[in-house]
Amino acid sequence: MTSGTGAHGSTDGAASRRLRSRAWFDNPDNADMTALYLERYLNFGLSREELMSGKPIIGIAQTGSDISPCNRHHIVLAQRVRDGIREAGGIPLEFPIHPIQETGKRPTAGLDRNLAYLSLVEVLYGYPIDGVVLTIGCDKTTPACLMAAATVNIPAIALSVGPMLNGWFKGERTGSGTIVWKAREMLATGEIGYSDFIDLVATSAPSTGYCNTMGTATTMNSLAEALGMQLPGSAAIPAPYRDRQEMSWRTGKRIVDMVHEDLKPSDIMTREAFENAIVVTSAIGGSTNAPIHINAIARHMGVELSIDDWQTIGHDVPFLVNMQPAGEYLGEDYYHAGGVPAVVNQLMSKGLIREGAMTVNGRTIGENCRNTIVQDDKVIRPIDTPMMERAGFVVLRGNLFDNAIMKTSVISPEFRERYLSNPDDPEAFEGPAVVFDGPEDYHHRIDDPSLGITEHTLLFMRGAGPIGYPGAAEVVNMRPPAYLIEKGVHALACIGDGRQSGTSGSPSILNASPEAAAGGNLAILRTGDRVRIDLNKGSANILISDAEIAERRAALAAGGGYKYPAHQTPWQEIQRGLVDQLGNGGVLKPAVNYQKIAQTNGVPRDNH
Ligand code: FES
Ligand code: MG
Repeated sequence: MTSGTGAHGSTDGAASRRLRSRAWFDNPDNADMTALYLERYLNFGLSREELMSGKPIIGIAQTGSDISPCNRHHIVLAQRVRDGIREAGGIPLEFPIHPIQETGKRPTAGLDRNLAYLSLVEVLYGYPIDGVVLTIGCDKTTPACLMAAATVNIPAIALSVGPMLNGWFKGERTGSGTIVWKAREMLATGEIGYSDFIDLVATSAPSTGYCNTMGTATTMNSLAEALGMQLPGSAAIPAPYRDRQEMSWRTGKRIVDMVHEDLKPSDIMTREAFENAIVVTSAIGGSTNAPIHINAIARHMGVELSIDDWQTIGHDVPFLVNMQPAGEYLGEDYYHAGGVPAVVNQLMSKGLIREGAMTVNGRTIGENCRNTIVQDDKVIRPIDTPMMERAGFVVLRGNLFDNAIMKTSVISPEFRERYLSNPDDPEAFEGPAVVFDGPEDYHHRIDDPSLGITEHTLLFMRGAGPIGYPGAAEVVNMRPPAYLIEKGVHALACIGDGRQSGTSGSPSILNASPEAAAGGNLAILRTGDRVRIDLNKGSANILISDAEIAERRAALAAGGGYKYPAHQTPWQEIQRGLVDQLGNGGVLKPAVNYQKIAQTNGVPRDNH
């Protein structure tokens, strides 16, 4: 690998190394196939001269479409990416990948991440592509793209579509997703009606782009940059800004050089880079989906990373970024305050970043961020006066599950007071469980007074994991019953085997693995059981005897318990049979056996 600082258009590398696209477009040993491959790519205006020139062929993996509105602006940005690729001497080939729309896909977009991953692996490996621009944005589009780039391991660079502009209502910022959780309380208590509810939520989405809150999209785009996979400063630029267009052009230029330098995902996404991603997740107050996706990318990259690393590496990191849902501000503010480089710079000042980790521009993250300063310290707090000290994830385990996580940056003082204020036992709480089998059950019963839910109840959601739902849905963050909201109780402890929207500020215990549908003990929990959570010890237990557990498990094995929904599509059945649990990234288990396939498997055989 070269330093990566060389002038664009250098063909030194290409001269010594035959690019993989030559196997299609210039193979005298199989002239008839080369002719066949060439003639069809000529039919929309490319020339034989270009395709046989030895110039890098650059894929643009297009995630935008009419049914993926968060990423739709990539259709426009791709033109500037093409301009950059052409300027640097490459040839762009844009292609679609399986759409994943977080808000639109039923039963959950969680079902589609691995499908998009699989299809992108096939495209990157099976077509004449020397390097790829990954157009990322909406929640799962980012991990799907990075997972595939890891598996194939050809030069790859990510480009965020950027967040929407800030939303506003009556002079206050309304953040996408986050406003829904607030508005649904107002609707539940009759403060607003259905139509006003819709209008209020819509104010949060004023332009093209992805969620403007620190939800899963902003988290994963920030982490794509922290991992070193997009150009410094790229993640936070709002979608409609002119800077976003310029960054698209720079990204297109840079991928051509990366191909010449043979700078691959495996050079960038190292253990050090993943450790940086964990640290940055804590500092930005990132989504609880981050551990799932980052662990999945690491597994496909062949880097050891465990759910426990999230606590050991991330828990003691201070929380710096004052964005909704845990704070006040939104995407435009984050950009103006300096975005990811400013956050990394603060973390570097305390030695929290692995500064030697390589990035796509051929420089280390330390070199990239050393001179970046915070421009607005209301939005990105200086590390000595953070939003909160030690604000990362806690990993919990016990007789309820092998692992689950809790994001501590969203624990409000009020929640702490109610659940965590026993002076003898300050980080633990205990209470009666109310158990729901799926979100429909919760919606039907949450306001039913006969459930006897109080401000000390623990709400459980099960049947929401990768197998049970199927796909692992964001349904664990449940609002309290309306009668408690009216009393000022805005969050109950929620625990479950599903996920939670990154835009939700609920202090939930999530991603429980194994899920109920995979034999986890959430399946034997009953309403009325007492459950004890200890954040200090990292434990979560049903307070029943081992004998009682054994008895209930036997009843479950004999066919008792909740009946999971039948498969509705072929993919639901296929994925249910192959998917790993959320603590392990929710990957397709057999896919992890395929590592760096562009190197290990060469190019595929000819097709005729
Ligand atoms: Fe697509 Fe939030 S729903 S980014
Ligand atoms: Mg979501």
